[in-house]
Amino acid sequence: MRTEVVIIGAGPAGLLLGQLLHKHGIDNVILERQTGEYVLGRVRAGVIEQVTIDLLDEAGVGARMHEDGLVHEGVQICVDGVRHRISFAELTGKAVMVYGQTEITKDLMDGRAAAGAPTIYAAYDVHLHGIFGDKPHVTFRADGKTQEIACDFVAGCDGFHGVCRKSVPAHAITAHERVYPLGWLGILSDTPPVSDELIYVHHPLGFALCSMRSPTRSRYYLQCSLAEDVDSWPDDRFWEELRPRLDDKARARLVTGPSIEKSIAPLRSFVAEPMRFGRLYLAGDAAHIVPPTGAKGLNLAASDVRYLSQALVEHYAEKSDAGLDHYSERALNRVWKAERFSWWMTTMLHRISENPFDQKIQLAELDYLFRSKAAATVFAENYVGLPY
Ligand code: APR
Ligand code: PHB
Repeated sequence: MRTEVVIIGAGPAGLLLGQLLHKHGIDNVILERQTGEYVLGRVRAGVIEQVTIDLLDEAGVGARMHEDGLVHEGVQICVDGVRHRISFAELTGKAVMVYGQTEITKDLMDGRAAAGAPTIYAAYDVHLHGIFGDKPHVTFRADGKTQEIACDFVAGCDGFHGVCRKSVPAHAITAHERVYPLGWLGILSDTPPVSDELIYVHHPLGFALCSMRSPTRSRYYLQCSLAEDVDSWPDDRFWEELRPRLDDKARARLVTGPSIEKSIAPLRSFVAEPMRFGRLYLAGDAAHIVPPTGAKGLNLAASDVRYLSQALVEHYAEKSDAGLDHYSERALNRVWKAERFSWWMTTMLHRISENPFDQKIQLAELDYLFRSKAAATVFAENYVGLPY
């Protein structure tokens, strides 16, 4: 088999790249280790920047998002029971869209199926060959037999645990990492959200987040220790831990109900540099991870894909490799700014340190954020997404 671009991974990064390349007549095959149902079963953050909305529209998969997505013109931050609002509309003239990543993945899968572009699910033992030469190929096992695809380029969109980053010789790659001593325990429930906008909660008991998927489906998170076992969190215990962290109004509006999903995610900041190795280009979680505070994971994957798809279009249509040569530098420039914002939000809002000095600094930082228009603008322009 031969194609122009082999994409490893059918998460949002791989599917979006495939869709954009297909639109420009660039042949691509996606290899995914899991089944499509498994990929759709994963629950992740759901706040979409305007630039990501634009890219999904460009890929032709934005229709359902515009119908069902919720436009949020601000976000709320609750500090020790007192709520403050940061208005994106006033400070930046922009907004974000609240629309679940699972739905985006489904829209992208449907778009790909409609386009008739090939995705091979349950593709095992993916190996990359010859990425530093000019004729790379990829081998894998599917339907019980070993198969091979020759290509011009490989896009490594296979997430943090994928094979692509690990295929690169250790001396060629540098990893920067910050592991936080905490996780997020998340719950999804068919109950109305406590507020029309997201509420990020700073509280002595620990961080909480009140988010949503729709006017009838809520997503809540609690800061938890990494040693925590999700099985020791029956729903009642979750609601009991959430309640005291909320302000009076949110507490009064809290409707509890059975969870339809519950999971724990560790918090990590990670960047691998560079993002290009010969004819292998990494994009999304394969190259970088942000802690979920600020919901930048999907948006960063989309911005990598934007740079990479444009570079590949330039290569095929204009015979120019300028975009490919600058891909890593361009993508990392935006990645590091989102890393900084996610790290900052994480350290400002969680109970991380037991040192009273650190706790006072957190409160001073939050107070400054609420009193200074300049500080609020910095927050807002990062939250809605920095320009490309
Ligand atoms: N071979 C083939 N596919 C693989 C392999 C492999 N060896 N390893 C991993 N994959 C697949 C995974 O099963 C997954 O479906 O690659 C896909 C990677 O998808 P994500 O982890 O979602 O990563 P990405 O597309 O970069 O998403 C970026 O979306 O999922 C979120 O947390 C993520 O917010 C981030 C954003
Ligand atoms: C979510 O809705 O899952 C969500 C929202 C905002 C975040 C993280 C997660 O910062």
